[in-house]
Amino acid sequence: MLEIDHVTARHGTLTALGDISFTLEPGQRLGVFGHNGAGKTTLLRCIVGAHVPTSGEVRFRNRPVAAGHVAQNVREGIAFVGQGHNVFPTLTVAQNLRIAGLLFDPTFAKEVLRIFPVLEERRHQRAGLMSGGEQQMLALGMALMTQPKWLLLDEPSTGLAPVIVRNVMRQLREINQTMGTGLIIVEQNVPATLKIVERAVILKSAGLVFDGAAETLANKPDLWEWF
Ligand SMILES: Nc1ncnc2c1ncn2[C@@H]1O[C@H](COP(=O)(O)OP(=O)(O)OP(=O)(O)O)[C@@H](O)[C@H]1O
Ligand SMILES: [Mg+2]
Repeated sequence: MLEIDHVTARHGTLTALGDISFTLEPGQRLGVFGHNGAGKTTLLRCIVGAHVPTSGEVRFRNRPVAAGHVAQNVREGIAFVGQGHNVFPTLTVAQNLRIAGLLFDPTFAKEVLRIFPVLEERRHQRAGLMSGGEQQMLALGMALMTQPKWLLLDEPSTGLAPVIVRNVMRQLREINQTMGTGLIIVEQNVPATLKIVERAVILKSAGLVFDGAAETLANKPDLWEWF
């Protein structure tokens, strides 16, 4: 279980998250939506331990995540793919995957290359020469090398063509099904995300204004009023 328990987070005097609570079951798929500046990235950063909450805590398997110790939390099974393409541009695809899996099982690269055939084809290509979509898949693949229990994604569809977005979303669904990895997806592309998540939360001005089934949002004609 992953518990966000009364988490308040500040940047200086600005409250980015105000007393947020929700609990996720293992393997759940959650979409996190909200306007710019609502606190979405800060929420992901609190979960992986990159931002230390002012009060409250995040617990994973009944233990508090180590606030301020991202590497330790990654080893425990929480992987985070930040905004933008986080790959080593001068290294090849295969080298990027190897580095990402250094502290884990490097042979798992085979499985990652099976999930992303595009990466298999480009194994020996320098990452910086690949398209935005391909780099995004590599960043996802690198996160998978840690064989996470939870995969946190900050706007994975940004800058991708619609057909590539569908592809990435499908692959996320497959990862969830085959590896049982829980997904927390921060997205501006709400319709594409609602197709693969089962639950959604909406943040508004640092507060939680919706927490419910993805279907409920998908069927709401006045969806945008929540934002
Ligand atoms: N390092 C920082 N220093 C100061 N203020 C920050 C910092 N990071 C975020 N903030 C502020 O905290 C609030 C929440 O930011 P956050 O990045 O979590 O929002 P977001 O929902 O991810 O927005 P976006 O959709 O634009 O990515 C914003 O008002 C932002 O300006
Ligand atoms: Mg953000």
